[in-house]
Amino acid sequence: MSVEEHWQMDATAPELYDRYLVPAITSLWAGDLLDRIAPKRGDSVLDIACGTGVVARFTEQLGLARRVVGLDLNSAMLAIARSKSPQVEWIEGSALDLPFDAGSFDVVLCQLGLQFFPDRPLALKEMVRVLKPGGRAGFSVYSAIENTPAAYAFDQALDECLGEEASRTKRAEHLSCDAQEIADWTKQAGFDLVDVATVTKQIKFPSMLDYVRFQLTATPMAGLLKDKEVPERERLIVSISDDAASRLDRSMLAGGKLTFPQQSFVAIASL
Ligand SMILES: C[S@@+](CC[C@H](N)C(=O)[O-])C[C@H]1O[C@@H](n2cnc3c(N)ncnc32)[C@H](O)[C@@H]1O
Repeated sequence: MSVEEHWQMDATAPELYDRYLVPAITSLWAGDLLDRIAPKRGDSVLDIACGTGVVARFTEQLGLARRVVGLDLNSAMLAIARSKSPQVEWIEGSALDLPFDAGSFDVVLCQLGLQFFPDRPLALKEMVRVLKPGGRAGFSVYSAIENTPAAYAFDQALDECLGEEASRTKRAEHLSCDAQEIADWTKQAGFDLVDVATVTKQIKFPSMLDYVRFQLTATPMAGLLKDKEVPERERLIVSISDDAASRLDRSMLAGGKLTFPQQSFVAIASL
């Protein structure tokens, strides 16, 4: 896996990610995940691959958890998280080697992270290890890219405008498997009960151009244009946006805005 496939990026992108993509996309999924897992009073909660911290922050804001910890590989993402919520413990580390003793948490969460881990079975086993007996886990991953039309149109436009393989990082955000496979991996890791829901959210951006611009500035895909001069970068962003728009059903572009369904698997598991 390349650096981009692990969803790594430099200092500016995390700030833009938190400002634009968290409100438009990941905060919707965070609300859904927390509704499903419903942390209880006194729980200790770990958010793995916390990024800029939306899930940990929402958990802390519920005011029920005794301890909330956010863990991520990326120090620039954690710096934003830290600046927004000093009450949460933010820790740099890997999902594959969690820096916690066995039985440390009541609840483990991992939103839109599992798809980037080079060893998913190990990451799931690590969740099991750090959970207390009877502990619960909640995690989400985007399903096959074809089930999220704007992502699929953008993926095809990238290859068309920047050359074959330009969409590799975008495709790595999605898992082309079914809910049963996710349930099987989760059980094999040691969870007893697993429920995997296929969930769709309506995502809104002010325009297709905004969506494409945020994808190419606020994610590791910023690397695709980093060597271009500003006018060339702008020209490419517009071309990719026009190409992606031409592939979408017109109803998703009504009034010049972009509205599209985004599909994820959301798993709730317990020991
Ligand atoms: C798409 S972001 C999701 C962030 C956050 N959970 C959210 O919903 O906004 C994926 C995150 O996974 C992190 N990540 C990737 N591989 C990781 C690993 N092995 N251990 C910990 N974090 C990892 C990246 O640094 C990035 O912050």
